[in-house]
Amino acid sequence: MTSIIAVNDSSRGEIFPELTRDVIDRMKDAESPRLREILELVVSHVHAIVREAKITHDEWWQAIDFLTRAGQMCSDSRQEFILLSDILGISMLVDAIDHVGGPGLSESTVLGPFYAGQQRELAAGESILLREEESDPLEMRGRVTDSQGRPIANALVEVWQTAPNQLYDVQDEDQPDGHLRGSFRTDGAGTFRFRTIMPVSYPIPNDGPAGQLLAAMGRHPFRPAHIHFMISAPGYRTLVTHLFLDGDKYLGSDAVFGVKPSLIIRPRLIEDINTVEYDFGLADGRESTRAQFEELRRQHREL
Ligand code: BEZ
Ligand code: FE
Repeated sequence: MTSIIAVNDSSRGEIFPELTRDVIDRMKDAESPRLREILELVVSHVHAIVREAKITHDEWWQAIDFLTRAGQMCSDSRQEFILLSDILGISMLVDAIDHVGGPGLSESTVLGPFYAGQQRELAAGESILLREEESDPLEMRGRVTDSQGRPIANALVEVWQTAPNQLYDVQDEDQPDGHLRGSFRTDGAGTFRFRTIMPVSYPIPNDGPAGQLLAAMGRHPFRPAHIHFMISAPGYRTLVTHLFLDGDKYLGSDAVFGVKPSLIIRPRLIEDINTVEYDFGLADGRESTRAQFEELRRQHREL
């Protein structure tokens, strides 16, 4: 009879090592080498966690139940897996690997689950509000350039933020669709300009498994006040980022780890209006990111 405990060189027993090898060996005909590479890592790391933590049947069932509930929570306006990826720092890690940074380039941060596709295109200086809000107005101005500071004309600047009630339009039936969202095109000098209101901090959706996990970890669900930007132009990598308001009490504990010092803004009063001037630098290269977001959203809608 073969033992399921193998003794390795350091005399530490490893439970059932041939099972891990068998699972990995059976992927040798995988259709994609990249998929095989990733799945080998997934299998070996997950098996290692199960061994090291000595996971019980009961605990594994709890994990499966948790993931099942996360899937059941998803809808066209709710993406629980993005929330899980965000609160566990995975989204920011993927972004750190896949974002091209460097001198003259803006830093990126999480997309989040509330990008709702391209919105109505507005003229320079127009407001992204579709109804009045009792908040201080904010004027946003800036330029979109390449890494050398040369203007990028006709770049698409997409923006979105929550209402003062801490909800996005897609979470709140009372807000008109497209409220606090808009798209702008840069002019020949690469400039853009729009009117909005001062953003507020808000809790990420925490009435599902991601919220339960946050509570179980002893963490709060808040994000510091921010405005989202997605900036794209042919021949440049799409930039997904936010601008965060200085002074927000959650800047040091963002529930999704998205804050970077270069993205913190300090509005100045110009003609009695809070005004921010911020320039974005785009990296040369692939244009794929934006198309990927659209494709993901399309697939999600068809599920
Ligand atoms: C957001 O900023 O919209 C967001 C990001 C991550 C999780 C939830 C919301
Ligand atoms: Fe947000």
